[in-house]
Amino acid sequence: MTRTPLIAGNWKMNLDHLQAVALVQKLHWSLKDADHDFDSVDVTVFPPFTDLRSVQTLLDADKIPFGLGAQDLSVHDSGAYTGEISGAFLSKLNVGSVIIGHSERREYHAEDDQVVAAKTQAALKHGLVPVICVGETSEDLEKFGASAVPVGQLEVALENVPADAEIVVAYEPVWAIGSGQAATPEQAQEVCQKLRDVIRAKLGDDAADKTRVLYGGSVKSENIASFMREPDIDGALVGGGSLKVDEFSAIVRFKN
Ligand code: G3H
Repeated sequence: MTRTPLIAGNWKMNLDHLQAVALVQKLHWSLKDADHDFDSVDVTVFPPFTDLRSVQTLLDADKIPFGLGAQDLSVHDSGAYTGEISGAFLSKLNVGSVIIGHSERREYHAEDDQVVAAKTQAALKHGLVPVICVGETSEDLEKFGASAVPVGQLEVALENVPADAEIVVAYEPVWAIGSGQAATPEQAQEVCQKLRDVIRAKLGDDAADKTRVLYGGSVKSENIASFMREPDIDGALVGGGSLKVDEFSAIVRFKN
């Protein structure tokens, strides 16, 4: 089965709503100037919550074919949860997907595998595609090898996920995030293949064949093509490289 590649830009806590709109507009122009085939690669941006409305308005007004995602959501639908954002609210802003279980949420907000599983359910309940992030720390890597921790994390996240649900899985070795030291394409492929095996075991052949598995961690315009050549890597979750127009545009145009 052919899977359309997905290049996802996780802006983390960077860019206010004015900077966000400027970046999206410039990225669109850059891709148009380069005669990019927008149908060949899906692009989704994940701005901070406060930027979502402005970016969504721009995407609609200028008919920019990028997906819009959020960086997190609450396990609750509504109520007395100060500071939380409901998946229901995100859906109403035409947000299509949501990052869940990013290692920065796991580390700084103590989100464990059970929270990740609950957030996955909350996303699906509100019609959002969960982008489920898994990955090992350097200590995990030393103790258990590369795949044991991400495989275990994904097994828990996929509990009670229906076989026909649309999901995205992102393999992000924690040691590669923001370090400038990406995994090798071969290392990343080995883990992504095992993650696809988990999807097959939990959700069946159809889900395993159609689900996009991304690699994330120091992806740059110079290394993206080498990851995209691997059979089980269907795209990238890009942090730092998604904040600069020329760099992100070049990553999206990895085929050129
Ligand atoms: O969500 C994105 C990842 O954390 C990767 O970040 O591209 O800055 O290494 P990075």
